[in-house]
Amino acid sequence: MLKEKVISQSAAVFDEVVAFRRHLHSHPELSFQEKETASFIRGILDQWKVEYDYPVGGEGIVARVHGKKPSSRHFALRADMDALPIAEQTNAPYKSQNPGVMHACGHDVHTACLLGAIKILQTNSSEWEGTVTCVFQPAEEKLPGGASLMLKDGLFENQKPTGIFGQHVFPELSAGKVGFFPGSYMASTDELYFTINGKGGHGAKPEQVIDPVLIAAHVIVALQQIPSRRSSPMMPVVLSVGRVIADGATNIIPSKVTMEGTFRTFDEAIRAESHRHIESLVKGIAQSMGGNAEVEIRRGYPVVYNDVSLTHRAIDAAIALLGEENVVALERRTTAEDFAYYTQIMPGCFYRLGTAGENGTHQFGVHHPQFDIEEKAMSTGVALMAWLAMQV
Ligand code: NI
Repeated sequence: MLKEKVISQSAAVFDEVVAFRRHLHSHPELSFQEKETASFIRGILDQWKVEYDYPVGGEGIVARVHGKKPSSRHFALRADMDALPIAEQTNAPYKSQNPGVMHACGHDVHTACLLGAIKILQTNSSEWEGTVTCVFQPAEEKLPGGASLMLKDGLFENQKPTGIFGQHVFPELSAGKVGFFPGSYMASTDELYFTINGKGGHGAKPEQVIDPVLIAAHVIVALQQIPSRRSSPMMPVVLSVGRVIADGATNIIPSKVTMEGTFRTFDEAIRAESHRHIESLVKGIAQSMGGNAEVEIRRGYPVVYNDVSLTHRAIDAAIALLGEENVVALERRTTAEDFAYYTQIMPGCFYRLGTAGENGTHQFGVHHPQFDIEEKAMSTGVALMAWLAMQV
């Protein structure tokens, strides 16, 4: 049976996949600089005689594997490959050799698992039909995001897959387990920049100034209307102001205040509507108090929407491969992912690969300087990626 084959083959390629991951882990590269990483991946694809396009949207690589039976069936698998500006604090033998740069979000794992999956897809090409497009994507960690750049550069322009899968490490779950969430899974993320302009002057003569500090205080409080009164309690909305600069003194009222914050939600229509509300609220309050406001909302990644039907089919396939006890339901997350761009144009499913070890090991969160994984997780990651591409 194919299932047994996939499980035994993922065990057979395990050592090789671990070696790939360790190489990538010790040679991390920042977003938009993944030159060596891309060259390493291309070397392996060349050796395995896998056809690919490069460069796509920067250092992106698009590999294609074909089943022996021709068909219009077409799925895509995506792995990101960039690292973070973090100085690694682990004692792993494969620790980063690039000072100040670290694979602290598991993108080394994603890439290694996708390579392993390609090998399984190739080995079993007579068992499945159609095409699997394997996307090695740069720059997930930094706006505008490698996904948007690859799409702009023509990825999927001629041939749109019927679905795309993305796999991400998850230290909150044990190795061997995976997690899914059908529907809006990860938040849209937008940056807020406000400048409140007033008229500065002596702190002892408030009647002669237009106090932007007081206006800013009203703005901060009023903005909480957006999550609490302008949005349904059924829809999570986050609005946080994290930076307020009023550079006056005990007796000086400054002429302006700058503010920065983040806005996140799980619905594109509510996102667009909230942007309008934020702008009119900040400007309206400033105006009503005699000042004026400049509002800039920098759009970040959209909502990661896991297609409900595709995700349920993936859950069924995962249960068939790994057993019911190893497939769990996830909760929504207010963090963001540029996988969202793929889900805007085709059915997508972004799921999680458990990477925690037994007895409390490997539990540091992603983006932590001591983040690492229980490598056994990669055997599950390789098998599931290949299996989804063949079975869903
Ligand atoms: Ni990540």
